[in-house]
Amino acid sequence: MSLVFPLPMPVLETPRLLLRRFQQDDLEEAFSWASDDEVTRYVFWSTNRNRSETQQFLDYCFQEYEQRGIGPWAVELKETGTVIGECAFGGIHAADLRIEIAYFFARPHWGKGLALEALLALLRFGFEELGVNRMEARCMVPNTASERVMQKAGMQYEGTLRELVFAKERFHDMKVYSLLRVEWMARAAL
Ligand SMILES: CC(C)(COP(=O)(O)OP(=O)(O)OC[C@H]1O[C@@H](n2cnc3c(N)ncnc32)[C@H](O)[C@@H]1OP(=O)(O)O)[C@@H](O)C(=O)NCCC(=O)NCCS
Repeated sequence: MSLVFPLPMPVLETPRLLLRRFQQDDLEEAFSWASDDEVTRYVFWSTNRNRSETQQFLDYCFQEYEQRGIGPWAVELKETGTVIGECAFGGIHAADLRIEIAYFFARPHWGKGLALEALLALLRFGFEELGVNRMEARCMVPNTASERVMQKAGMQYEGTLRELVFAKERFHDMKVYSLLRVEWMARAAL
């Protein structure tokens, strides 16, 4: 039993969002949030300083779609058609049926429950369509907004991994949350 590449990457729809593949013409909108120091404060990648850095990210997405079938989702706000963020299966551990989720949203769209909406769509897709056994999310300790999103999604706090990652010139403790397939299915059955 294992996840087998290429994995499917359907468009995921929530009440307010479409999660779909990035396209070349998303460059400008992606740059607008990837170049915001507030968005990158608690993430490992550096604030994009020019469009060619965002283009490198898009090229990485296109390569992932091509080689593995799946890569980062562009988060499109249905009402405006604007790409307001990204979410991804940051780590796919195929043999363990385990996936780590990451998400990033443009600042004007924080605090409206959109990250929760996207996270629930990714959990549903992973558990119900890919047959994943465990889905995880991690955040830096001060990233309380991200932690709150994990809690609202019903994920369980498992602990803090000390000095797990070296990024931006220092080590970072990371909080780990997870949800198991049996827990998701029990909820879905309610
Ligand atoms: C983290 C992030 C995705 C949250 O997105 P969002 O759409 O605002 O999330 P939601 O609206 O679904 O929920 C945010 C929750 O955090 C709470 N929150 C926000 N800032 C907070 C803070 N400083 N302290 C405590 N809670 C906070 C909100 O009140 C809300 O909880 P509530 O619904 O109980 O009121 C968004 O802030 C972001 O993109 N940050 C930059 C990138 C990032 O850090 N990504 C995560 C990496 S692990």
